[in-house]
Amino acid sequence: MDKLIITGGRQLDGEVRMSGAKNSALPVLAATLLASEPTKVCNLPHLQDITTMIELLGQMGIELIIDDKLNVEVDAKTIKEFNAPYELVKTMRASILVLGPMLAHFGEAHVSLPGGCAIGSRPVDIHLKGLEAMGAEIQVEGGYIHAFARNGLHGARYVMDTVTVTGTENLMMAATLARGKTILENAAREPEVVDLANCLNRMGADVQGAGTDTIIINGVDKLHGCEYTVIPDRIETGTYLVAGAITRGRVKVKNTAPDLLDAVLLKLQDAGAHISTGADWIELDMKGNRPRAVNIRTAPYPAFPTDMQAQFTALNCVAEGTGTIIETIFENRFMHASELIRMGAHIALEGNTAIVTGVEHLTGAPVMATDLRASAGLVLAGLVANGDTRVDRIYHIDRGYECIEEKLQMLGAQIHRVPS
Ligand code: EPU
Repeated sequence: MDKLIITGGRQLDGEVRMSGAKNSALPVLAATLLASEPTKVCNLPHLQDITTMIELLGQMGIELIIDDKLNVEVDAKTIKEFNAPYELVKTMRASILVLGPMLAHFGEAHVSLPGGCAIGSRPVDIHLKGLEAMGAEIQVEGGYIHAFARNGLHGARYVMDTVTVTGTENLMMAATLARGKTILENAAREPEVVDLANCLNRMGADVQGAGTDTIIINGVDKLHGCEYTVIPDRIETGTYLVAGAITRGRVKVKNTAPDLLDAVLLKLQDAGAHISTGADWIELDMKGNRPRAVNIRTAPYPAFPTDMQAQFTALNCVAEGTGTIIETIFENRFMHASELIRMGAHIALEGNTAIVTGVEHLTGAPVMATDLRASAGLVLAGLVANGDTRVDRIYHIDRGYECIEEKLQMLGAQIHRVPS
């Protein structure tokens, strides 16, 4: 298994370009299943999760054309099997996103039930209940979700009892081809939900209200093809900004969307960062100063994202003062804390709260990545630790960060990959 070796102590200084958003690209690729014509998806990040989604579509027998920039054209009408097998779903939970579109377009879907994962139990009950409200017949048997809608789905009013991102996306996609009007209440407002809605509308769907907590979808008979470019990755952007902040450096992130990061930028300013923004860039400058500890409470968008929690935990580890971090989305998303403690961090964990008191220096150590964002937190800590930090199991990081070592090297970090 590859490892990352980071020698800490370099103040980052430079510019870096962001990739397309993983969590937009995955639902947009799933949405191609709804179209009756070929659909082309552009600005896909080169990531393991994207490869898995492409493989999943390929295993259904769907014809795909992939160009040298990893733009993917999907012709859903060439589908031969309505299966998402365990072997792929177990490697990527977001595979569940094919359920709604496959069912709505083809009247049938068999998708392995995703299990729990390192950060929490992560059930999909809301996805299933919402589809049932639209008339689907669903049985869960032998670890698989078997869903049928032989006569198509119908519109429904459905109140989601928890805000769920992929749940909202799955139901929104299914509703585009349902008969009549669907109203999704307590919908997720994440930018990736809005991006998916924009893609669906480009395909001829009638989706209104994405970005608010009520999404109204008027079903149409069929969707046509289109070419769609996914938005930049706001979590990758936030991660590189924290890399600048933690090293007391200056980082300009290009090819991004500043208006999607309000909560993160506010916390970086609280930490003492000078932030300036343009239409598609953000610059962070610490002017050589040590960051100040910040208090964080994760919550659905537009509040502070859980996907940035581990990175800010790392920031607080070397900041001046004490910061409290409350994780409200996932029940087990502090796996990075014990690894950071091994690097000399002062973290007290109490249930869903981490109280972090900054230390002057962390010390490099061998650490283990446990999930995607936890790994990012460990890499950030490695950038400021004395000596070498070796991050193991970095397949987690490759799921969500394109060329992380090259991008950090361009900013002046000493980081390299050691193949197994
Ligand atoms: N939940 C339920 N029932 C459901 C669905 C969700 O109880 O049917 C609960 C979950 O257990 C969790 C909460 O609702 O406690 C929110 O989970 P959500 O469904 O919103 O998470 P997700 O859709 O599975 C997406 C991102 C995650 C991100 C979360 C929260 C994708 C592909 N994944 O997951 O991204 O953390 O939303 O913002 O969009 C990552 O990129 O590292 C990542 C984990």
